[in-house]
Amino acid sequence: MLIAIPDVLDADAVSRVRTLIDAAEWIDGNATSGTQSALAKRNAQLPEDSAAAIEAGRIVLDALGRSALFVAAALPLKVFPPLFNRYAGGQAFGTHVDTAVRVRRGSDFRIRADLSATLFLEDPENYGGGELIVEGTFGEQSVKLPAGHMILYPASSLHRVAPVTRGTRTASFFWAQSMVRDHGARHILFDLDQGVQTVAAAQGQGDPATVRLTGVYHNLLRRWADV
Ligand code: NI
Repeated sequence: MLIAIPDVLDADAVSRVRTLIDAAEWIDGNATSGTQSALAKRNAQLPEDSAAAIEAGRIVLDALGRSALFVAAALPLKVFPPLFNRYAGGQAFGTHVDTAVRVRRGSDFRIRADLSATLFLEDPENYGGGELIVEGTFGEQSVKLPAGHMILYPASSLHRVAPVTRGTRTASFFWAQSMVRDHGARHILFDLDQGVQTVAAAQGQGDPATVRLTGVYHNLLRRWADV
């Protein structure tokens, strides 16, 4: 399941992130790739330990913590510090699956990548191509969102970035380990959460049906969450 999360960053935050990363030194994107990915990947990336990436990453992590939709959809246990990449002049990333376990270089921080995220940092009209294409049970889905919007998708899915034919595609990307490893179970919890919120809005938080459904949500989460 793909979940679009609009307005993770507002225009001001996008511009702060862009100011930081645009002024930084970019390197070949294969610095973080596994061998198979390296064959398919042509882009530029900020080094993981660059001051700009760390500071811009903090802005993104702060915003994620405040996004109720991200928390409900990902049920995050750990989030990999956000990375930044850009594509121009026909660059692309061919079909691949993201690495299962990510280790932060020079630290003991590691996560199992359950979910992959792309946070767009350039408006779609400013570049040609550059769609994120994710293969799923319902075929291919093509994603190209406004700056500040994010897409979450299962890290296990085959995906690619189409060649950027004009302008520059700039984005942040990262992975999350979810408290609920199973995508199907997490999807049920997300649906239930959205339903409970609709009922709560219509009936009130103290309404007996709302209380009971909220209890079901927490009891399923208790059953399925690893923390
Ligand atoms: Ni990928």
